Amino acid sequence: MSVMIIGIAGGTGSGKSTFTNRLRDAFPNDVAVVYHDNYYRRQDDVPFEERKKVNYDHPASLETDLMIKHLKMLKKGQAVDCPVYDYSAHNRSQETIHIEPKKIILAEGILLLADPLLRSMMDIKIYVEADADERILRRIVRDVKERGRDLDNIVDQYLTTVKPMHYLYVEPTRALADVVINSGMNNVAFDIVKSKIQLMLDEN
Ligand code: CTP
Repeated sequence: MSVMIIGIAGGTGSGKSTFTNRLRDAFPNDVAVVYHDNYYRRQDDVPFEERKKVNYDHPASLETDLMIKHLKMLKKGQAVDCPVYDYSAHNRSQETIHIEPKKIILAEGILLLADPLLRSMMDIKIYVEADADERILRRIVRDVKERGRDLDNIVDQYLTTVKPMHYLYVEPTRALADVVINSGMNNVAFDIVKSKIQLMLDEN
């Protein structure tokens, strides 16, 4: 079985998850998803108050080597036990997710195209684009509802790390993508990528 890896990058709140989930749902038997976020480093020895202040938008906060190792295993047809990240705790949880190899692996994350080795493993590189105001609005709603954050904390984090790191590490990777999609909700872009995946599956 030949395995194709499709990378889906883009700024926080751009709609990467929406786009990724739509693709997964379109090919339920042939797609597995690996989230770069699940590879945020384990920080068991760092107190919670310190973990809150870490720069989670810098490449060093992620254990990208482990993700590369797992993608290589999936590519060879081996299953992996992927870590699971807990945003409320700012730490890796004790759980893992068992991922069986599939013909198509979707890899998602803000910094997915920032690492040269990881980037070189992608058969298709997609960058999901959205205006900064829409991204921060989506992030506020999501972080309050799903990640146990309050407004002051979200604003402070956005201004001190999320925004500067976006322009330093995330946005420059837009130029390295094969396809730039205007929002994760774009139906035309979704249909085009879906057709390409179908073609790859038919050729396989
Ligand atoms: N992050 C955080 N706290 C942590 C770890 C990560 O706030 N303990 C944040 C980082 O600041 C980073 C964001 O998580 O900016 C990455 O997730 P994001 O891209 O926002 O979410 P996705 O659902 O992957 O993507 P999208 O919003 O595009 O659907």
